[in-house]
Amino acid sequence: MTSDFAPMAGHAHPTPQGAVQIAEGVHWIGALDPDLRSFDIILKTANGTTYNSYVVRGSEGVAVIDTVKAPFTAEFLAKLESVARYDEITTLVLNHLELDHTGAVPEFLRRAPHVNIYVSPRGLQVLRALLKDDFDSYSVTTVETGDTVSLGDKTLRFLTTPYVHWPDTQCTWLEEQNLLFTCDLLGCHYCDGRLFNDRVGDFRFAFDYYFDHIMRPFKGYVAQALDLIEPLEIDMIAPGHGPVLRAHPRDYIAQYRRLITKRLASETGDEKTLLIFYVSAYGATAQMAGAVYEGATESDDVRVSLFDLEGGDVTPFIDLIEEADGLIFGTPTINGDAVRTVWDLLSSLVDIDTKGKLGAAFGSYGWTGEAVGMVESRMQGLKMRVPEKGLRIKMHPTEDELEECRDFGRRLAAHLAGRAVAREIDMSELLGS
Ligand code: FEO
Repeated sequence: MTSDFAPMAGHAHPTPQGAVQIAEGVHWIGALDPDLRSFDIILKTANGTTYNSYVVRGSEGVAVIDTVKAPFTAEFLAKLESVARYDEITTLVLNHLELDHTGAVPEFLRRAPHVNIYVSPRGLQVLRALLKDDFDSYSVTTVETGDTVSLGDKTLRFLTTPYVHWPDTQCTWLEEQNLLFTCDLLGCHYCDGRLFNDRVGDFRFAFDYYFDHIMRPFKGYVAQALDLIEPLEIDMIAPGHGPVLRAHPRDYIAQYRRLITKRLASETGDEKTLLIFYVSAYGATAQMAGAVYEGATESDDVRVSLFDLEGGDVTPFIDLIEEADGLIFGTPTINGDAVRTVWDLLSSLVDIDTKGKLGAAFGSYGWTGEAVGMVESRMQGLKMRVPEKGLRIKMHPTEDELEECRDFGRRLAAHLAGRAVAREIDMSELLGS
């Protein structure tokens, strides 16, 4: 059954009133959430989102692919009931267990307790937590790349695509119809009842924004997922949020490939990149930054950049940091803390993968000098490696202390380039103070 469309009160776009056929024997039975203005608290959703669920009818079975967020359970079930009876449904595939896709699962299972549930191995523990004491009463199978489920004349083939963006994520390929169900991957928060990418408004911003905030920290895993997806002869991508991609679906895969590709790679070759950021109140930390920079630039195999964070807008630096191999932060200690712009930049790094990057800190101080240690702790929290103890200098540096700064820069560049660094052990380390 293909739905009628009618205007939704207070919203300009037509809204499907029932299930929508997206391919022969395949229906969208999801929900629109046009009033949502933020997702997971931090994501802006300027025109809402959708929770997409699908039904696939084969000659010997019916499969439900993902469900919807809990408040939309009733409309999800109504759409489902318009295209299938519960006793016909053989299969529930959960590509991702986050609650925006599984909120309706408990109620669905109460109505169709006989279905076989398919999840990734990592999805199993989340499903157990979702179903609590009822878990053991259901039939659950874990599946990995290459495993299939037959619906008679249709076959669902699973692709294990973890960490896009949870450990449990997977995709499901409807072989006979070249249709890929991707859940969060290749989705976006964009609400338009016309559903198909060739009919909805311009959602390019929403697509890239979603990638930036959901997928970007997992670029390596996105690359692995694309390696599995790209060889497929795809006619349609049916994601868990936003438009169904039936026109030029490969363009969206290509856009993901572009978004995960390092832009500097062709320019820098094997060279390592090191960024030095600093803020200075009276010029002392700036002097230190200059000397650290001088020391680091003596290395031919490290490309070093120096940036003053005074002025406040840290957003432009996030792209640079994502591609950099090492980061050094210089901050004075003011009121027992690092300077706010340094924290702004460090807190912005949650959207990118910093694991394994080199990190270091330095700064001038007047009395207590906690800022350097605080920045080091934050870098360790971001899973960066911090090979050198931070460099703190009281008040303005002397010429000898500037030479210490140069040496700090030299040693950090050597760490970055993988050259051996002679290390002097401080007595305070041995004494544990
Ligand atoms: Fe759309 Fe990760 O949930």
